[in-house]
This record gives sequence, structure tokens and C-alpha cells, in this order.
Amino acid sequence: MCGIVGYVGAKRNIPEILLEGLKRLEYRGYDSAGLAIGLDSGMEILKSPGKVKELDRKLKAGWTQDKFKNAKVGIAHTRWATHGPPNEVNAHPHSDSKNRIALVHNGIIDNYSELKARLSSIGIKFKSETDTEVLANLISECYEGDLCSAVAAALKQVTGTYGIAVIAKDQPDKIVVARKGSPIVIGVGDDEAFVASDISPLLPYTKRVIYLDDNDITVLSRSGIDLRNMDNVPVTREIAHIDWDANAAEKDGREHFMLKEIEEQPLAISNTMRGRMDHNLVTAKLDGLNLTPRDIAGVSRIVIAACGTSLHAGMVGEYYFEDLTSTPVEVEQAAEFRYRNPILDRDTLVIAISQSGETADTLAAIREAKQKGALVASICNVVGSTIARETGRGVYLHAGPEIGVASTKAFTCQVATLLMMALKFGRAGRLSRSAGQKIISELEKLPDLVRQVLDSSDKIARIAKKYSSAKDFFYIGRGYLYPVALEGALKLKEISYIHAEGYHAAELKHGPIALLDENVPVLALANNIPGKDKVIGNIQECRARKSPVIATATFGDKDILKHADDVMEIPECSDFVTPIPTVVALQLFAYYVARERGCPIDQPRNLAKSVTVE
Ligand code: F6R
Repeated sequence: MCGIVGYVGAKRNIPEILLEGLKRLEYRGYDSAGLAIGLDSGMEILKSPGKVKELDRKLKAGWTQDKFKNAKVGIAHTRWATHGPPNEVNAHPHSDSKNRIALVHNGIIDNYSELKARLSSIGIKFKSETDTEVLANLISECYEGDLCSAVAAALKQVTGTYGIAVIAKDQPDKIVVARKGSPIVIGVGDDEAFVASDISPLLPYTKRVIYLDDNDITVLSRSGIDLRNMDNVPVTREIAHIDWDANAAEKDGREHFMLKEIEEQPLAISNTMRGRMDHNLVTAKLDGLNLTPRDIAGVSRIVIAACGTSLHAGMVGEYYFEDLTSTPVEVEQAAEFRYRNPILDRDTLVIAISQSGETADTLAAIREAKQKGALVASICNVVGSTIARETGRGVYLHAGPEIGVASTKAFTCQVATLLMMALKFGRAGRLSRSAGQKIISELEKLPDLVRQVLDSSDKIARIAKKYSSAKDFFYIGRGYLYPVALEGALKLKEISYIHAEGYHAAELKHGPIALLDENVPVLALANNIPGKDKVIGNIQECRARKSPVIATATFGDKDILKHADDVMEIPECSDFVTPIPTVVALQLFAYYVARERGCPIDQPRNLAKSVTVE
């Protein structure tokens, strides 16, 4: 999804800081990039389709060291096309027809067509197909020397979402930023200030950040940060201190962020659980939920809303709540939930799960739930993200930044969090102390269980190589491993581009079995959990259609070799936690298949890390 970075100050080389910032935003997924630099003599805008390195090349081709020597302000952008194809004209920054201002924008201006018609009727000519160019012209029309007032006046005419950064040709020492529905973070420096759409470009320069709220508008200059609302009333926002360091967002010597993130799961899961086990009361301490045992007793129903991988985690959570509590649970695709007429009341707890905390559909779902009076909580990774802030109560994963577009450590930490939540709810109700103790001790083994799977990655890589030329794949599982089959298939398709479907093992014979033959491998999750015998039966159905079978099985299961061509071993553990080591094997499998096929693993085509449009 689109990314923004900006800098004002005299301490740094502006083109370098902008390009470096854009590189740190690459993980979000994008298709073009651009920058605008304010100079005493005017404003330079440079854009390019494709990757940031193209922009860099273009800049250096026309760049003399002296050109930007005295520059004090710059903004830059990576664009993920929404209005008009990814090309140079549609790339940001956009300027107005008089070239007075330059603007970068994340989000979508819903009423841009009518604004464009109005501006066209007064003679303004547009070069691009974007909604952003319309906003640039609207700001320019309002501009009479005070950029902040012009931006506020223009935004008052706009419906939709935006995170924006604007500079003016005649004020080459300030940036005006504003947000509504699209995140903007300000980096606080000494005699300098930074802006970005998330914290990763800011980390090398400052750990002090301010998250803007919706309808905030702010002027950044060397002399400070002037925070206001749209009615020009000064507002105060807390300065947060970020403990992620810049290295945490780098690859640590691995070929891909995805591999680094798969391998750091023992640590990520430990961080998720750190300080949260209450051995005395045999429960989980999740203070951010802000729910007393009495509040929990009042919850008559739980609805989990999420998208993609987070949705699959939610599906595992449904099993947890149903096994450990007496509370009925429904798991909803956030996009669908929002457009139905969900029946919610004060006794319903809606749990939004989102790694980024910015997914538009999930955000819309919680807004709907709040409006209908439900209790709303979230499970997010990104601290200070919109979903986390809007729900007000929830649990952070503390998994560290997830840069690879394919979500890995967020999934395992979400599942661990859901198990802790179900433990907390269970212990406030019918779950016995001894059953609770068993869950805590299984949770505490998780980092080690994952390490054991990681130790077998060479074997998984060999199996992956063998199947890497397949065109289609099925993943099947039952019980706790059914959502894991869905997640394993999602991982394979998104990074290797192999068509892969996750199915409940029993559903295969209700249709998809027609597709099986010797060219369609089936990955069957056949660990020792209830339902294993039936999965073995389903494997037989696949083999009878000549499908090669790869199975996950519990360490030491000699029998499985009779049923499967290849086996990925998963350490012995209780059914509760088995989704976590099992999914790690599937993540590695997908990773090595994609690597074998030479795919761009961290930035798969057509995908974005944070999906902030519906
Ligand atoms: C898959 C993936 C996506 C996300 C989905 C929700 O690997 O990353 O399916 O899980 O876009 O994103 P979040 O969790 O940020 O709401």
C-alpha cells in the first residue's frame, strides 16, 4: 500500500533521506515512486514507475551534488495504484496546474469526480487520472499565502480518507501534514522534523514519534511541530518512545525478511507471552483488555472479525473459546460482516484481529460494531495503529515489525494470544485450575516446539524442491488443523504463485476431489490430534486418485510412511498448541518452494502489506 516520507531541516541530505525512507517503506507493496524537493529557487519533482531504485537512478542521472545542497524540505511517496494505472504521470507527488504546491497522499478521495468537474469548469487542466491531483488543485485554489489554512479549507470539501504531506514552492521550509483514516506519524527531532506513514523510515533518525489522530493538521518546520485540528484549534498529542530499533526492521543477514520472520518466531512468541502468565491464579494477565471477571461473565457471545491470515488465526481462536469457555463464537470475514446487518448488543464482544492495525475492512467492522453498541477489543501488532487506538482495549502482539508481505510471525503470535484470551475467559468461568495449568505449561513450551521445527528446515527445503514445479496444490486438515490448512495454502499461493486450496479434509470428496490426479499434490495435516484416523482415510482417497501426498505428522509416527510420499515432522504437543509448530512447517515449505521458483518473496506481485482500501 502507498507510503509517505518527508523531512524538514538543514541537517541532512534531503534526496538521500527521502530515498532511504522510501526503501524502508518498500515492504508495503507499491508500483511507482516519486519525490518533491523545495529549493529557494523553486520546487523539483521527480517520479518514476517501478521500484525506488529506478527513481534513485533517475535522480542520480540528472543530479549535480550542488543542486540540492541548500534544500530544507522534501516529501516522497511510494504509490500502489487505485485511480489510474501505475505510470509516471499518476505517480505522486502531484502538483497543481500552477505548480505552486506538491502533495503526496495515501487513501482515497471519494468525491473526487465532482470536485474535478467543478475545478475543470473554472479552467483547470488535469494531467493524471488520480484523485490526488484533484486535491492538489483544490488546495492551490484555497492558497493565499497560508499553506495550513489552504490545506484545511480544501480538506473540508473532501469526503474519503487521507494521510497527506504538502509543500509549497514559495515556503521551502515547511510541510503541512494531515490525516483522516490513513495513518501519519511525525518523527520529532532537534531543529528538524520527519513525517511518514509508519515508523520504519523514522527509526534511524529518532525514536520520538507522534501519531496523528483523524482530523489533525500539523505544520512541520525546523522550529517545531504545530499541531492543530481542522478548525485551527491547537491540540496536544503525546510523544511516544519507540523501542524498536532500526535493525529490528532489517533482514539480519537472511536472504528475505520472510525467512528472518519465520526464524524469529520463538522469540516473537516469547515476547507475546512475556509477563502475561499468572501462575498463581492460573490465568493470563491481559490488562489491556480492561475486562474484569464480572465483565467477562457478562459476555454472552464473541464475534471475531479479521481478514486473510488474521482471519485464519481467528478461526483457530474459535476452537479455543469453544473448548475452554461456554461462550459461543462466530468468526467473520471483516469485509462481509460490515455490509451485512450483524445482530450485536452490549453483551457481544467483537474482537478485531489485525497485524497492521490499519486494514480498512477490519476497521470498518469495528466501527460498525461500536456503533451498534457492542464491546470491542483488538489484537494488533502495530502499536498505536488505528484499530488499536479506536478499540481502546486489546492485546498487542509485541512480535516486532513484520516486513515480509506474507504474514508469518503475526499469525503464530495471534494464535498464542487467542489461547491466552480463551484461558482468561475460561478461568473466569468453567475452566478448572488443573486444565488451566496444562494450557499454561503447553504455551510455555511453544518457543521450543517452534525451534524444533526450524531445526528441520533443511529437510523441509528438500521436500519443497521436489514439489516446486507443481501447478496446483491441496491442503487438508481437520479440527485445530483445519484453519492451518487454509493458512498453509494461502502462504503457498501468495509467495510461489502456485494455485493452492485449503480444504477441510472431509470436504474434499464433496467436489474438489474431481481435480486430483498425479499432478496435484495434497498436503495433509495428519498430526496426532483427534480426527487423525479420519485424515488418514482422506489421504487414502487422494492416493487412490494418484495424488502425491506430503503429510505433517507427529515425531516418531512410523505408520505415516505407509500413507505419505513425504513427511514433515512436528514435535509432540497437545492439540491446543499444535497449530503453531505445524504452521511454521508450512511457512517454511511455502518459502522454499517460492525460493526454488525464484519468486520475489518479500514483495509478491499484486499484494500489499497493509490493505488500507476496501
Ligand atoms: C497474508 C497476509 C494478509 C493479511 C491481511 C490482513 O499473508 O498478510 O492476508 O493477513 O491483509 O492484514 P492485517 O492482519 O494487517 O489486518
